Amino acid sequence: MPPNALLLEGIHDAADIRLQADFIDVQRAPRISDANADVLKTAMSMGIRSRTNLDADTLLQLPALSTVGCFCIGTNQVDLNCAADAGIPVFNSPFSNTRSVAELVMGEIICLHRKLFDRSSGMHQGRWKKTASGAHEIRGRTLGILGYGHIGAQVSILAEAMGMRVLYHDHQPKLPLGNAIQVDSLDTLLQVSDVLTIHVPDTPLTQNLIDADAISKMKSNAFLLNNARGSIVDLGALAVALRTGHLRGAAIDVFPEEPTENDSSFGHELCGIENVILTPHIGGSTHEAQENIARDVAEKMAKFLTTGSTVGAVNLPEVALRDRSDQLRILHIHRNVPGVLSRLHATIAQVGLNINAEALDSSTNRSCVLLDVDPTNDPAVFEALGAMPETIRLHTFPPKSPEPSAQPV
Ligand code: NAI
Repeated sequence: MPPNALLLEGIHDAADIRLQADFIDVQRAPRISDANADVLKTAMSMGIRSRTNLDADTLLQLPALSTVGCFCIGTNQVDLNCAADAGIPVFNSPFSNTRSVAELVMGEIICLHRKLFDRSSGMHQGRWKKTASGAHEIRGRTLGILGYGHIGAQVSILAEAMGMRVLYHDHQPKLPLGNAIQVDSLDTLLQVSDVLTIHVPDTPLTQNLIDADAISKMKSNAFLLNNARGSIVDLGALAVALRTGHLRGAAIDVFPEEPTENDSSFGHELCGIENVILTPHIGGSTHEAQENIARDVAEKMAKFLTTGSTVGAVNLPEVALRDRSDQLRILHIHRNVPGVLSRLHATIAQVGLNINAEALDSSTNRSCVLLDVDPTNDPAVFEALGAMPETIRLHTFPPKSPEPSAQPV
């Protein structure tokens, strides 16, 4: 039976195109509850977004499921531990919306320097206010980037192209792009930046990192942008700094508590403060990002379904081997305890097969071994590997076609 995929929640069509390129049969349904019982029973892979809850009960009702693609950034809608215990790798796309966030940041920097939202709201309320007061170019201003990862580095390039001087702080040494300069402490970054933009993840180290003390070290009249995570900035302290005129404006896309449903009401102490741009966590929400996510996750699912690669899995060790169409490929997922590998090798040797390639990786509890062995139709090897007490799951990938014989020179 050829591999198949059930895609839910209106995932971008780019996913179907990528999966079908590997002859994966694609079915679609709006929600899991809309899918036909036979489709659910035979679904080998499932593509979801954030609204499908794959908890332990649901996963256990999907007997053929061998992989899940989360066509989004987060994966907390899936019980990752339960999926790993069932040998199901879960993939996501953490970096497909990088550019969307970086472009939003640039737009916000200009809007804040020109008080564009206040001018525009005034016009909508019937007020004409033509003035250069408080309006500036961004050229020549110093941009401080906290976190020089995927997004921070993109912002760096765009900001320099617009004439900004770029400094950044990252707790890892990072190669500067263009003329950007890494500064060795957050304090230095706070003290010299005309604009501080935050691009660190939510970790115990970054929670409340930009608190009242940090804000007090920022240049007076600076701007603060947070498009990363709501836990990083103390928004109460930010509101005080804005109301007292220490900071000149802010752009906030992420909040400690965010409504889960669209059209929910929203209230916050930042509402109504001059020159503050508030957006409903839309930093990465563009059509382009959705398309990139679809391609990226479908690629990881297709690679898994056709070659056993777990590269990009968030819940299992990552292994891959180069494509070899003449080999029987075996992915053996097992509990990570001593002695399994040698017994695995012995079991394969006992049925007379040669191992021609192998990749192994382990986490604390689980290991993945990907093997290329001589092709066989003899079920003995599968039965023996499946019977090992440490086996979590055995995935097999038959040879695709015989290797073309070498041509005489
Ligand atoms: P990334 O992992 O590529 O980069 C994060 C950088 O922060 C890394 O270079 C890391 O070394 C650095 N870092 C981590 N902890 C640090 C600390 N304590 N001090 C200094 N540097 C530290 O992540 P990426 O893709 O650039 O994303 C950054 C943030 O943006 C994440 O929080 C992500 O969740 C958020 N995000 C928000 C979106 C939105 O819709 N508003 C969309 C996409 C991402």
